Amino acid sequence: MSENLPGGPLTLADGLTLSRMGYGAMQLAGPGVFGPPRDRDQALAVLREAVDLGVRHIDTSDFYGPVVVNELIREALHPYPEDLHLVTKVGARRGDDGSWIPSLEPAALKAQVQENLRHLGLEVLDVVNLRVGMSESTTDAPVGEQFAALAELRQQGLIRHLGLSGVTLNQLTEAQAIAPVVTVQNLYNLANRQDDALVDRCAAENIAFAAFFPLGGFTPLQSDTLDGVAARVGASPQQVALAWLLQRSPTTVLIPGTSSVAHLRENVAAADLKLPADAIEELDAVAA
Ligand SMILES: NC(=O)c1ccc[n+]([C@@H]2O[C@H](COP(=O)([O-])OP(=O)(O)OC[C@H]3O[C@@H](n4cnc5c(N)ncnc54)[C@H](OP(=O)(O)O)[C@@H]3O)[C@@H](O)[C@H]2O)c1
Repeated sequence: MSENLPGGPLTLADGLTLSRMGYGAMQLAGPGVFGPPRDRDQALAVLREAVDLGVRHIDTSDFYGPVVVNELIREALHPYPEDLHLVTKVGARRGDDGSWIPSLEPAALKAQVQENLRHLGLEVLDVVNLRVGMSESTTDAPVGEQFAALAELRQQGLIRHLGLSGVTLNQLTEAQAIAPVVTVQNLYNLANRQDDALVDRCAAENIAFAAFFPLGGFTPLQSDTLDGVAARVGASPQQVALAWLLQRSPTTVLIPGTSSVAHLRENVAAADLKLPADAIEELDAVAA
């Protein structure tokens, strides 16, 4: 099975094997990642199609909706295939107006783990990311107390693997002194490469670097170079942006989001696109 995983399998130090091409479920909630989806049947169809296409790594959180996305995942896919890895994250909650409110107190983090378990219909969560920063890694605030709270739940058997999101190199080092970190999820794409050093550190330590907003998120990637390479290799710009990320490092994993089955198929197919060296060189220069 694992050799058929889109993008190939990535086996991490803790024994976790992810498909390098995953799926990010955030966009399945309503506008602003708030409330129900525009098209519920389509949202369920996207999740089922992802699994049918071999994706075994779905990124989610209870704060998408809130709760909406986890409930869609449960409805579409439970009972889950044994090798499907649901990666969730804790560290925020939503206001009644849809605002994003940091929620990082140890007791709140533990409550969020319980909520993810309940809404996904699981007894153990495969991977839980401590989401520290709102977007890219910008501050070095201590994360030890928060990460220790999740490490405690891992010891109790409620979580198998731990990760971090929106962190700096120093925060990664601090967390690693407490428990193994199998994945780091930060904003990273062709045009946003502030975290190049983190990508390289993850590769050196066999940690999955999950690039969020791989297609630019709410601000779609736009680049003449990207369009030019896409035309030359006979792929869409989105496929080229994803293929570039897969080739950027051996431990990048992708979680492109979409609410469209057609876009999902296109994105998963990008796992088979091998960009030639001259195209990589051109694309590398986009953010220079
Ligand atoms: N840790 C964090 O703080 C954090 C923050 C943000 C996101 N995330 C995670 O990262 C995942 C990815 O982020 P994202 O979904 O916001 O951004 P993204 O993957 O960069 O882009 C998604 C956007 O691109 C469009 N799109 C997708 N495939 C396309 C295609 N083949 N052609 C044209 N347009 C396409 C989607 O629209 P359609 O629906 O129309 O396809 C959607 O608007 C999320 O799902 C979430 O799981 C994590």
